[in-house]
Amino acid sequence: MIGARSAMPLRCALLFFHKYSPFFLKTFLFVSVKICDNSRLKLKRYIVMDKLDFITEELSKLKESGLLINIRTIEGPQGAWIMVDGKKVLNLCSNNYLGFANNLQLKSAAQKAIEVFGVGPAAVRTIAGTTTLHKELEQKLAIFKGVESALSFQSGFCANLAVIPAIVGEGDVIFSDELNHASIIDGARLSKAKIVRYKHCNPRDLQAKISGENNPPNPPLVKGGEGGLSGEKKVKRLLIITDGVFSMEGDIAPLPEIVDIAEKFEAITMVDDAHGEGVLGRGGRGIVDHFGLHGKVDIEVGTMSKAFGVVGGYIAGSKRLTDYLTQKGRPFLFSSAVTAADVAACIVAVDTLIASDGMVKQLWGNTTFFHEKMRQAGFNLGKTKTPITPVTIGDARTAKEFSQRLFEEGVFAQAIGYPTVPMGRARIRVMLSATHSKEDLVRATEYFEKIGKSLKII
Ligand SMILES: Cc1ncc(COP(=O)(O)O)c(C=O)c1O
Repeated sequence: MIGARSAMPLRCALLFFHKYSPFFLKTFLFVSVKICDNSRLKLKRYIVMDKLDFITEELSKLKESGLLINIRTIEGPQGAWIMVDGKKVLNLCSNNYLGFANNLQLKSAAQKAIEVFGVGPAAVRTIAGTTTLHKELEQKLAIFKGVESALSFQSGFCANLAVIPAIVGEGDVIFSDELNHASIIDGARLSKAKIVRYKHCNPRDLQAKISGENNPPNPPLVKGGEGGLSGEKKVKRLLIITDGVFSMEGDIAPLPEIVDIAEKFEAITMVDDAHGEGVLGRGGRGIVDHFGLHGKVDIEVGTMSKAFGVVGGYIAGSKRLTDYLTQKGRPFLFSSAVTAADVAACIVAVDTLIASDGMVKQLWGNTTFFHEKMRQAGFNLGKTKTPITPVTIGDARTAKEFSQRLFEEGVFAQAIGYPTVPMGRARIRVMLSATHSKEDLVRATEYFEKIGKSLKII
C-alpha cells in the first residue's frame, strides 16, 4: 500500500504531466519538424538550386574574368566631349563618325516631323501603312547608294535578320567571314541554311570552301526553271556574306576578290556596310563605291545609327529584292517601323552627305593623324585602315583597367572583350570622329602613352 504521504509526489507528477503534456508534446513535435525542415532545405539547396541561380553564377564568372560589361550613363548629347557619370570626358567610343547625332538641322527636322506625324508609327507598315517620310528616305538612300531601290528597317540588326532568312533556307549554303557581325551570325542561324565560315578577309579560303560545297557543281542557271537545265531539282543557293568594314578590327573586306569568286560560282553576294557608309567611297557612299563595284553586289545592308547619327537600318539593291523583302522580311512584317522623327533626321543626314564631303574629309584627316601618333608611341593597332582603331591589349582585365584609368584622366574609351572579340584579344576600341579637334587627339595619345607605359603595354 502506498501511504497518503508517499503518494504525494506521484500525484503531483501526474497532475503536472496532465496539465503540461500538450505543451511538451507540441514542443517536441515543433523541434522535430524544424530539424527536418532545415535539413530538407539544406539538402534542397545542395541538390536543386533556385531555378535562376545560374544567372548569379554567370554574372559573377563574368566579373571574375574581367568580362562584365559596365554600362556608363550619358547625361547629354553626343559629341567630341560628353557628360558621363557626372564627368566631362573626351568621347572616343561612339560611332558618331560625322557628328550628325547632335546636328542642328537633323534635330530641327525631327522636331518638325513630330509636329506633323506625331511620335509613333502605331503598327507595322504592312498593316497600318507607311508615311511619305519613310518613302522619301528610301528613295534618297537608293540615290545615295547608287542602286535601284532601298527598304528601311528598324535597325541594321533587324535588316540582317530580315534579309538572310528571306534569301536562303534549308539546303542552301552561307559562306560567312569568321569575324562577321553578330547580326549576320544570328540572321544566318535563323535561315537554317548550312553555314560555312571562311578565314577572315581570305579570298583563297573562301574559294576553297565554296569549291568544296559546290561539288558536284550546281547546274548553270537558266531562265524558266527553278532547277537549272532540267528544272527538276532545286538549285542549292550559295550566299557569300561579309562585313564591309569589320567593326572590331577596322580592316576592309576584299570585296573585288569576293565578287570575282561569287561570279565564278553564281553565288549571291551580300555586304554589311554599317561602318563603311559615311566613311568609305565618294562622300561616304560606302564600300561598293570605294571599290567601284556598282551593280556587282546583290545585297547591301546599312545602318542609320552610325555615320548617319540617328537610328534605323536598310537594305539596298534591286527593286525586286526590296519588293520581295516587304513580303518576306519578318522584322519588316512583324515589327513597327522607326518613328517619323527618326526618319526625318535620317533624310537630312543623307541630304547633307549628298551635298558635301567636308565632314568625311575631316574624319579621314583625324584618322590618319591619330593612327600615326599612336603607332609612333608604340601601340599595336592591328590591321585597321579606317577610323575604327583597335588598341591591342590582350588580357581582358588589363584592358578594363586601362579603360578605367583613361576615364579617370577624362578620356572615355571602352575596353572590348569576349564575346564581342575572340578570347585573349581584348582591346580598347577608339572610334574617331570628324568632331574631334587635333588638340583632343594629341591629349588622348598622351594619356594612352602614360597609361600604356605604366601597364607595360608599350
Ligand atoms: C557590321 C554591323 N552590322 C550591323 C550592326 C547593327 O546596327 P544597328 O545598331 O543599326 O542595329 C552593327 C552595329 O554595331 C555593325 O557593326
